[in-house]
Amino acid sequence: MTLPNHRMIRYGGDYNPDQWPEETWPRDLETLKRAGINTVTLGVFSWSKLQPAPDRYDFEWLDRLFDLVSDAGMQIYLATPTASPPAWLCRMYEDILPVDERGHRLHYGSRRHYCPNSPNYRRHAVDIATRLAERYGRHPALALWHVDNEYACHISACYCERCAQAFRRWLQAKYQTIDHLNDAWTTSFWSQRYRDWEEIEPPRLTPAYHNPSQALDWRRFMSDSFLECYLEQKRVINELSPGKPVTTNFMAWFSGLDYHRWAPHLDVASWDSYPGTGADAAEVAARHDLIRGLKGGRQPYLLMEQTPSQVNWMAYNAPQRPGEMRLRSLQAVAHGADAICFFQLRQSRGGAEKFHGAVLTASGSDRTRVYREVAQLGRELQRLQSIAGSEYRAQAAVLFSWPVWWAVEQEPRINQSLSYIDEVMRYYRALWRRGLEIDIVAPDADLASYRVVVAPLLRITTPDLRRRLEAYVRGGGLLVLTFHSGLTDDVDRLHMDGFPGLLQDLCGIEVEEFDVLRPGSTRSVSVVEPRGDFSGTYAVELWCDVVHLRGARALAVYTEDYYAGMPAVTEHEVGSGRVIYVGTALPASAVEALLGWAASHQGVSRVLEVPEGVEVVRRWMTGKPRPEAAQPKDEPVTFVLNHNPHPVSIRLPSRWHEVLTGQDLSGEVTLPGFGVWVLQHR
Ligand code: GLA
Ligand code: ZN
Repeated sequence: MTLPNHRMIRYGGDYNPDQWPEETWPRDLETLKRAGINTVTLGVFSWSKLQPAPDRYDFEWLDRLFDLVSDAGMQIYLATPTASPPAWLCRMYEDILPVDERGHRLHYGSRRHYCPNSPNYRRHAVDIATRLAERYGRHPALALWHVDNEYACHISACYCERCAQAFRRWLQAKYQTIDHLNDAWTTSFWSQRYRDWEEIEPPRLTPAYHNPSQALDWRRFMSDSFLECYLEQKRVINELSPGKPVTTNFMAWFSGLDYHRWAPHLDVASWDSYPGTGADAAEVAARHDLIRGLKGGRQPYLLMEQTPSQVNWMAYNAPQRPGEMRLRSLQAVAHGADAICFFQLRQSRGGAEKFHGAVLTASGSDRTRVYREVAQLGRELQRLQSIAGSEYRAQAAVLFSWPVWWAVEQEPRINQSLSYIDEVMRYYRALWRRGLEIDIVAPDADLASYRVVVAPLLRITTPDLRRRLEAYVRGGGLLVLTFHSGLTDDVDRLHMDGFPGLLQDLCGIEVEEFDVLRPGSTRSVSVVEPRGDFSGTYAVELWCDVVHLRGARALAVYTEDYYAGMPAVTEHEVGSGRVIYVGTALPASAVEALLGWAASHQGVSRVLEVPEGVEVVRRWMTGKPRPEAAQPKDEPVTFVLNHNPHPVSIRLPSRWHEVLTGQDLSGEVTLPGFGVWVLQHR
């Protein structure tokens, strides 16, 4: 890992104790420390407290908190409070408040009420970040900077005049001349030609569809605008707080920002996970793999927030069942998290989140189920300390792209029911159920180390991407592509050579047209060349490409409608690898069968044979100096996670040491409901 001061598993969370008399702070910290908490996140929304008036700053309470925390032997993640500008600031400069697409200005009184292109906001945000960095930047208890909070959450675009101006500048830098822009955006359609940059507007409320290229550039621009806010703060922090890592907390499948563009600017990736009780384990796993994939897949990341029990913003806020929080936390560690943090350490007395779960209740009590579970996990994380910094190694990659997500779900859509994330999950889940370790990475990631690469709905394709995919396949890779691939360029214009555009030769097919199916409607396909368990007939949904073979062979054909007899799934050998093209939405069982075959064809097998609902993932100790030498070099630590509420029986083919209990395990062993083993070879 790149963070020298993170060679430990951190255990912490957001702590906003300003609501209680200061006498309670030492007791809070003592109670938290007894639960194993070693890091607290301070100041996330404290702007109006730190700067009560334009020319008044009050850091003394935070000084005292810093002292108390470091005296308690704990460390600090310090947030900049810029996610919630104070009322006085919004009143001084109206342009701070964001404007919606109808031109209505939003009000203060909740949070995240700022325009990312307001110079007044940006100046004041940098000012408060600078003062914090000057005061605490070299403090020995400071472990990491947490800039702002969940950028673009609640409101991911502002349509004000400042944003319009900044959009024009951004476009000018991208296209240089207005003719280039007219060409890229196909403005000859619907008489949208621009003579001058000044004529260009954000995609505000219009009678009919927006120009899709404009809309796509707008989303890129908004993501870049928030990134600029982050970078301005990071610059002063780097200057005043040398050597201290900087991050901001992400939200996994969040469409507002292109996290791939942000990731290079984070010293470590971090995110907030709120799956809710009974959540699907593969969904949660995918989010971890997406966040770890932001930095290429191997490096650890931080779980910056999760609830110890329940949230307050769902329709039904049931707490996680006993053992669930522990399971989710260890799942995070298994996927590469080197920090497990909670929102929040102590429950608020008032405000919109007072019914949100916390490690300590508003009464500060430690006599709760939640506290006991937090404390138990704290003891267990102690036993996992040597895992910090170890790496994750995936055999499979799923390619994911924010611009593709935006383009696929931009109106007008070809199929209202087509969801990018659902299609990504259709393939991710199949790989996960087959026991593969998976990175979710950007299309421009280095693919060389993966045995299998799946790229669902790779709608946007550039010549460079096409070249890299071909090199991967020629070198022995197995690439799975689906319908809705290769269609458009990076501003969502059609490629001029039919479907699937730039990917035709690679797939060895031509797609003549596609049928679109309504919800509940299916067509039948029949496998003509079985691959492993991929055989028989399947009912497919959503989409049916009408495919002609141009060098590929058909693995499955449609058996009904006017395209009966035509290929639905094809395989094309290219160099020493192959490309499988899936022209329709196969049911889960078929995807699993096909990818199961692909994995074994590529020499990937399960780490352990386990029952349904049990996940096995490893972290590798390589690259980590290991003074204790107990751990042989390049040995994985194997996590076995039972996501079922009921116990399961697992046969262990060899003798293992279980790190959490210190016991040796072999033969037929029972893993309790929500139970976890952390195994090392004996
Ligand atoms: C987000 C925010 C927190 C809090 C939690 C509640 O993750 O970052 O401030 O609002 O949600 O679940
Ligand atoms: Zn704005």
